[in-house]
Amino acid sequence: MSKAFYHQPVLLEACLEALQIKVDGIYVDCTLGGGGHSRAILGRLGPKGRLFGIDQDEDALQRANKPLDDGTPALCADPRFELIDANFAQMQRFLQWKGVQGVHGILADLGVSSHHLDEADRGFAFRFDEALLDMRMDRRTGFGAREWLAETSEEEMATVFYRFGEIRQSRRLARDLAVARSERALETAGQLKKIALHSAGQEKPSRYLARVFQAIRIHLNREMESLQEMLEQSGSMLIAGGRLVVLSYHSLEDRLVKNFINHGNFEGKDYHDLYGNALRPLDPVKGRWKQADASENSENPRARSAKLRVGIRNQFSLSTHR
Ligand SMILES: C[S@@+](CC[C@H](N)C(=O)[O-])C[C@H]1O[C@@H](n2cnc3c(N)ncnc32)[C@H](O)[C@@H]1O
Repeated sequence: MSKAFYHQPVLLEACLEALQIKVDGIYVDCTLGGGGHSRAILGRLGPKGRLFGIDQDEDALQRANKPLDDGTPALCADPRFELIDANFAQMQRFLQWKGVQGVHGILADLGVSSHHLDEADRGFAFRFDEALLDMRMDRRTGFGAREWLAETSEEEMATVFYRFGEIRQSRRLARDLAVARSERALETAGQLKKIALHSAGQEKPSRYLARVFQAIRIHLNREMESLQEMLEQSGSMLIAGGRLVVLSYHSLEDRLVKNFINHGNFEGKDYHDLYGNALRPLDPVKGRWKQADASENSENPRARSAKLRVGIRNQFSLSTHR
């Protein structure tokens, strides 16, 4: 965790604009990471504003406690800022524990940070051949990718690759891995990469590997489950007029966000009350989802796949439908 560069925030101005920050408001950054979005939110808050920064990763939590290399004080030195060491699936419970019943805005910038992908020992990236596979955001819980590859049934591996990597050859990939591990334990990114490439077919190797690694990461970190829980809780925690702003990076995430904001459930079905009001806690902000422009994309390749969606807490519905 020694490097100065941790993560460059994506669509920063668009997120601030979407949050429509009130100087005395209460805000939640569900994905603190390097704190780029959080620092910008604090920059718009007055002395009575509050910001809660959530992260489940120890490196991100430690960083919030340290000044930056250029001498900028630590985020935690700001009395308006409070750090929450948790999975954002627990957002509501932690906020209520801190006496907060309603908030003006919630930001979630999903997935992993550049720090995760740049640090070989986190075992997320396929470019470090010798790196031991891990891929947990919270290394204090659960088990990592090595254990998963050693112990998971071939059937379950195939399901994970199909569901979270949208890999058509998922059964072939799972078979190849099962055969390989019967000969030698699968420990490094290089080993996984070599075996995975057998089933890549005509697909560009880097794109294929990205999906294989992504599938394992999403499964191990229970990313889809946590996202669903956080979205549902946002409906309860936002005050009327409060804003949910979500940056997603792949279609599985975006589908959940889109369906929840537009319909109030994850299947994308419409429900109405007796008066015809849509039974959903949020109303989508009109217009298309937003993406980064060419100049941000060339400066920050991570921005290329980002989609920004915004929902505003409405007055009507008290419940959501599954
Ligand atoms: C894309 S980065 C956020 C970067 C941040 N916006 C910035 O400006 O530096 C995502 C961060 O969210 C954290 N994260 C992802 N899923 C989480 C979850 N379910 N609960 C808590 N933190 C999570 C990751 O550990 C990572 O630090």
